[in-house]
Amino acid sequence: MAAPLPSLPESAMWSVPADEPLLEVSDLVVEYASDEPVRAVDKVSLRVGRGEFVGIVGESGCGKSTLLYAISSLLTSPARVVSGSVTFKGHQMTSLTEDELRQIRWRDLSVVMQSAMNALNPVLTIGAQLRDAMAAHEKVSPARLRERSEDVLRLVGIDPIHLRSYPHQLSGGMRQRAMIAMALVFKPDLVIMDEPTSALDVVAQRSLILRVKQLQREIGFAVLFVTHDMSLVSHLSDRLAIMYAGQIAELGPTREVFSNPRHPYSQGLLQAFPSIRGPRRPLTGIPGSPPDLRRPPTGCRFHPRCGQVMEVCSRDEPRVHQVGDTDLVRCHLYEAEA
Ligand SMILES: Nc1ncnc2c1ncn2[C@@H]1O[C@H](COP(=O)(O)OP(=O)(O)OP(=O)(O)O)[C@@H](O)[C@H]1O
Ligand SMILES: [Mg+2]
Repeated sequence: MAAPLPSLPESAMWSVPADEPLLEVSDLVVEYASDEPVRAVDKVSLRVGRGEFVGIVGESGCGKSTLLYAISSLLTSPARVVSGSVTFKGHQMTSLTEDELRQIRWRDLSVVMQSAMNALNPVLTIGAQLRDAMAAHEKVSPARLRERSEDVLRLVGIDPIHLRSYPHQLSGGMRQRAMIAMALVFKPDLVIMDEPTSALDVVAQRSLILRVKQLQREIGFAVLFVTHDMSLVSHLSDRLAIMYAGQIAELGPTREVFSNPRHPYSQGLLQAFPSIRGPRRPLTGIPGSPPDLRRPPTGCRFHPRCGQVMEVCSRDEPRVHQVGDTDLVRCHLYEAEA
C-alpha cells in the first residue's frame, strides 16, 4: 500500500472553471536560434484536462523535451518561443515573471525532466531540499515538514533514512525517485514528466510509474508524460500524442490510436513495436530517418519516408483534420474526409 500523500491547504493559487482545460497549448513554435535556426516545435496545439494522463511519443530528436520545457517556461537561450501560447489555469505561462513562476512551480505545476537525476542540488541533503521546497510555499512546523518528507519518500520507494543523504550518495535511480517525490509533494494540478525513470531498470520503472498512476487516480492531478516505452504508455495514458519532426502528427484517445492509427507515421511507429498479445508479424518499421530540423522537407515533413505519399504531400503542408469523433491527424490523406 502506498503511504497517503500529506494533506495540503485547499487554496490553490488559481482556480480554473471546470469546463476550461487545465493546460492549453496553441500553435506553439519554438526555435533554437543560430545561423540556421532549428525549429524544434512547430505549430503544436494540445489541451490537457484536469486529471487527464496524456502521453507523448516519437523518435529521438522530434522535439518532445523542447515542448515540455516550453510548456513549463524552462527554456533557456538559444531556445525561444517564436509564436503561439501556453495557457495554464487560465494564465499565459510565457508572460509570467520569474517570481510568479516560482509561486506556481511545485505547487500547481511540477516538472521531472530527462536529466532529473542531475537536477538535485549537490550540496544539500534530500531532506533539506524537500524542506526548502515546502518552506518556499507555506509555513509548516519542523515536525510536520519531516513527517511529510518521510511520507513522500516512502511513496516513491525510498527509505526515509535517506533524508540525510546527499544526492551523490544515491544511485541515479534513487535520485530520479527523489525528484519524483519532490514533484508530488504539493499534489500539483499538473505533473510534467520527461522519461522520468530512464535511470531505473525496467521492472523498477514500471512499478514506480504504476505508483504515480495510482496516485494520479487517487489525487486527480493531470500528467503530461514523455516516454519511449510504447507498451507502458498504452496502459497509462488516456490520450496519446505522436510527434514527428517538431509537430504532432496524431492525437487521440490512446486505445483509438493503438487500435486504429490514422497517420502513416503512427502506423509505422506502432508496427515497429511488436505486440505482446497480437499475432506475430514482420517488423516493417519506417525506412529512413527523421529530417534535419534546420531544413525540414517541404510540404508534409514525413513525406520522404511515407509509404502512402501523394503529389500534394511534397508541395503543401497538411492541416490538422479531425477524423472520427476524437482523433486529430495532420495528414493529406484525410483532406477529402474533412
Ligand atoms: N541547445 C540546442 N541547440 C540547438 N538545437 C537543439 C538544442 N537542443 C535540442 N536541439 C534540437 O532540437 C530538436 C528537438 O530536440 P529534443 O531534445 O526536444 O528532442 P526529443 O524528442 O526530446 O529527443 P529524445 O527522445 O532524444 O529526448 C533536435 O533536433 C535537437 O537537435
Ligand atoms: Mg527528450
